[in-house]
Amino acid sequence: MPKETLTVTDNRTGKSYELPIVDGTIRAMDLRQIRVDDEDFGLMTYDPAFMNTASCRSAVTFIDGDRGILRYRGYPVDQLAERASYLEVAYLLLNGELPTKHELTEFTREITTHTFVHENVRTFIDGFRYDAHPMGMLVATVGALSTYYPEAKHVADAEIRRMQITRLIAKMPTIAAWSYRHSVGMPFVYPDNDLGYAANFLAMMKRIAEPRYQVHPEIARALDVLFILHADHEQNCSTNVMRSIGSSQADPYVAVAGAAAALYGPLHGGANEAVLRMLREIGNVSHVPAFVKEVKGGVGGRLMGFGHRVYKNYDPRARVIKHLADQVFDVVGKKNPLLTVALELEKIALSDEYFVKRKLYPNVDFYSGLIYEALGIPVDMFPVLFAIPRTAGWLAQWEEMLLDKEQKIARPRQIFTGYAEREFVPIEQRREKSVVPPEG
Ligand code: CMC
Repeated sequence: MPKETLTVTDNRTGKSYELPIVDGTIRAMDLRQIRVDDEDFGLMTYDPAFMNTASCRSAVTFIDGDRGILRYRGYPVDQLAERASYLEVAYLLLNGELPTKHELTEFTREITTHTFVHENVRTFIDGFRYDAHPMGMLVATVGALSTYYPEAKHVADAEIRRMQITRLIAKMPTIAAWSYRHSVGMPFVYPDNDLGYAANFLAMMKRIAEPRYQVHPEIARALDVLFILHADHEQNCSTNVMRSIGSSQADPYVAVAGAAAALYGPLHGGANEAVLRMLREIGNVSHVPAFVKEVKGGVGGRLMGFGHRVYKNYDPRARVIKHLADQVFDVVGKKNPLLTVALELEKIALSDEYFVKRKLYPNVDFYSGLIYEALGIPVDMFPVLFAIPRTAGWLAQWEEMLLDKEQKIARPRQIFTGYAEREFVPIEQRREKSVVPPEG
């Protein structure tokens, strides 16, 4: 039987070390014993952007990027998208098992009874500038919830944790919709607890004077499916932030605010917004080849909605979304003209050597924006629509981290590249940098 170990020889000293291999990994801390002498700190690994470092053990989500596989708690995401509801999936992520009928009814009831936010949240959101980005408002408002629930800091108490998880999943759509209403100068709409999770969110965004906003069931279902597809994605940038903030035992509201802030960036959850802006900029199918040429030449930025750190095959979420887009366009009765641009872009990119060689395929964000646009949702709201469902994933990962005995406060090491010790220079002795006088 081959041994599950790795033998490393340090050529500086000639010494050999045998390190255990468990689950295809060696422990970075096992390298610390490799030292030149007693003064030496010991060998570290250098892994900017965590390209090859497992930061935790997790049983929540499995991805095989080479084979295009994504499973939540073992269930393939396409099966969940076809047969489950978002709240069922949120329950699965949080509890590890699909709910029974009774459990789902109870979970839905709990979430529904917490959809309202403290009345002061209205005033808080009202305080933002008229043109504030809804994602900025969402990040700040979720963080502010921490001040309403001071008990949330008792993160070791399972019951308290569960209460905040319920509140966060329940209140995210309300805060998200209100951020939007503020950005368009419309009055806030209170939750309608007779509606389902996705339908309630749409109603809070869209209702004007009608006593009850009628959400087309297929549209509500499409949004619910999008929520399922975005619910978790193992150790991505924002989840890593969630775990990292949570590791200091901060409360989950500020941790979710931090995770949402990470999601906001255009390389992560902000990509769906960037895709739409890119498609609008391209404008017409005839401009696609020139645009692709610019991207390849490194002058046109990146092809947004393409490429992924872990998927080096088709993103399984993109496959479901592409199909969903057709269904939504059928219901709303109009094809988004940008769809033709997107399809052409996809066709060219999938056959172009630059993209093929780098294994750049459409990701979840490539088509989701087109669906949101067909639903009349403005681009600013796209990352917000990502943050709502990802909350369940963040919370499942956060709780897993808290219960993991191997976890401690997250605290990476560095390779220091600055000055060695220097003597303090009094201000009178410091030389001004030469200033170039302005022209004219
Ligand atoms: N367009 C053009 N070239 C690209 C792209 C792209 N979208 N993505 C990667 N490349 C090139 C990159 O220039 C590099 O080329 P070279 O080897 O010649 O230097 C090579 O492919 C590898 O790229 P990388 O930056 O090392 O890859 P990464 O794993 O660090 O980045 C990524 C992953 C998602 C940040 C990146 O592919 C990207 O910026 N994509 C566009 C933004 C986007 O759609 N993000 C949404 C991700 S899915 C939603 C989510 O989960 O957040």
